[in-house]
Amino acid sequence: MEFPFDINNIFPEKITILDQTLVSGDKSTGRPDLQSKMASVIDELGKASSKAQQLPAPITSACKLQSNRHYLYLIKDETSNGGHGAGVGFLKVGYKKLFLLNQRGAHIEAEPLCVLDFYITESLQRHGYGLELFDFMLQHKQVEPALMAYDRPSAKFLSFLAKHYCLTQSVPQVNNFVVYDGFFLNKSVGQ
Ligand code: ACO
Repeated sequence: MEFPFDINNIFPEKITILDQTLVSGDKSTGRPDLQSKMASVIDELGKASSKAQQLPAPITSACKLQSNRHYLYLIKDETSNGGHGAGVGFLKVGYKKLFLLNQRGAHIEAEPLCVLDFYITESLQRHGYGLELFDFMLQHKQVEPALMAYDRPSAKFLSFLAKHYCLTQSVPQVNNFVVYDGFFLNKSVGQ
């Protein structure tokens, strides 16, 4: 996704980690001009994600990021748009307190890291960008995919998890979250 400004100037690294502060490295601290450009990249990718998932409204925007304790990993292609770079996609994660059912149907209270939104621009899907982003997040958060929960995953995302992380055996839940077999290892049953 191209923008009428230099993406490489706003996001120096290939993958940028953003949180509530909406600061990308030292450079954007105290720079409202850079922060507003950053916000428009997040907003446009957030809109494209909701369209791709046929959601009634975006679940990712700069404003929402500033008011929640989420992490957003944003990936760019530095070479496109005549060297100005382009936004490729993002992955948003956050901790959520969930009541889940284990394999025996017993209630478990947990606060796992959850994938909340994940999007790679249409023309670049199936090029390995999603995997690069996801692996980066796993490294940064020091977590295993089986220990995470997935909020309303799309068919493409389910296929992605099966292909790259062999996650196929999900445990049925009564909410919108999907968790896999390995999630319940070493977790005790609550009341
Ligand atoms: N149809 C089916 N499976 C797909 C598709 C597709 N169009 N695109 C990606 N995948 C899955 C497949 O398993 C594929 O492997 P294959 O080509 O051998 O079948 C694998 O992902 C490819 O891996 P990457 O190239 O690393 O993935 P990609 O860069 O495409 O990112 C993502 C995956 C984020 C799911 C992307 O396809 C996308 O943005 N889809 C549209 C939005 C979406 O559904 N996001 C998930 C929302 S759910 C949530 O966030 C909790």
